[in-house]
Amino acid sequence: MMDLTGRHILLTGAARGLGAEIARSLAGAGASLLLADIAEEEGRATAEALDAAFVPVDLGDPASIEALATRASEITGGVLHGLVNNGAIATGIGGIGFEDVEIETFDLVQRVNVRGTWLMTRAAAPLLRASGSGRVVNMASDTALWGAPNLISYVASKGAVMAMTRSLARELGPDRIGITAVAPGILTTASTDYVPEARHRQYAEGRAVPGPQGPEEITDVVAFLLTVGALTLTGQVLPVNNGFVFS
Ligand SMILES: NC(=O)c1ccc[n+]([C@@H]2O[C@H](COP(=O)([O-])OP(=O)(O)OC[C@H]3O[C@@H](n4cnc5c(N)ncnc54)[C@H](O)[C@@H]3O)[C@@H](O)[C@H]2O)c1
Repeated sequence: MMDLTGRHILLTGAARGLGAEIARSLAGAGASLLLADIAEEEGRATAEALDAAFVPVDLGDPASIEALATRASEITGGVLHGLVNNGAIATGIGGIGFEDVEIETFDLVQRVNVRGTWLMTRAAAPLLRASGSGRVVNMASDTALWGAPNLISYVASKGAVMAMTRSLARELGPDRIGITAVAPGILTTASTDYVPEARHRQYAEGRAVPGPQGPEEITDVVAFLLTVGALTLTGQVLPVNNGFVFS
C-alpha cells in the first residue's frame, strides 16, 4: 500500500467507474482528496462516502475548469501534489466505422478528452508547482497503442493524451513536476457494457495474464505515480493491461 498522507490530490471523472475506484484507493493511501465530475449527484455520493471534497466540473467548458482550479486552491491552501486527469467521454462512442461517425461526436470527444486534459493541467499547474513535487497522471487507453478499430473519436483522443504527456513532461520537468500516462485495456466497468462480446473476448484471450481485468487492478499503479518517488517515470506511457500490448 502506497503512502499518500498529506498529499492533496485532485481527481476528475471521479463519480463512478474507474475514477471512483481510484478515489477509493487514494483515500485508503491517506490522500487528501478533491473529487470532480460533471455527474454532480453521483460525484457527491462518492465523495461523501470517502470523506472527500467534491466540486462539479464540465471538462468541455474552459470557464468551468478555471472555476474548479480556483475552488481547489481555496480548499487546499494553494497547494496541489497530484492531479489525475481521468474524466473523459469513455462510453457509447464506439462500434461505428470511421466513415459513419458524426462530426459533432468527434469534436465533442476531442473537446472533453483532449482539450479538457490540457486546460485542466494548465489550470492546476501553479498549484502543482507550489507543492514542489507535483505529479500528474493522465488516463489514456491502450486502444490508441494497438489501433482498436471502430472507435475513431476515442482512439484519436487517447493518442493525443499520450502525445501531450510527452510534450508536457518537458515543459513541467524544470519545476520537478512529473506527468505520466497510463493506458488500461478494456475493464469490467459499466462503461464497457456496450462493447461487443468479441472485443471483450479478444482482450481476455490476448493478455499475457489471461482473463478479464477489473478497475481495482490498476489503482496501485496510479497511486504510485502520485508519490514523490515517481518523478523518474515522467513522460512515459505505461500500458496497465496485464500484458495485452507491450510498450
Ligand atoms: N473502462 C475501461 O475499460 C477503460 C479502458 C481504458 C481507459 N479508460 C479511461 O478511464 C477513464 C474512466 O473511464 P470509465 O471507464 O470509468 O468511464 P465512465 O464513463 O464510467 O467514467 C467517466 C467519468 O467521466 C465523467 N465525465 C464525462 N464527461 C465529463 C465532462 N465533460 N466533464 C467532467 N467529467 C466528465 C463521467 O461523468 C464519469 O464519471 C476514462 O478516461 C477512460 O477513457 C477506461
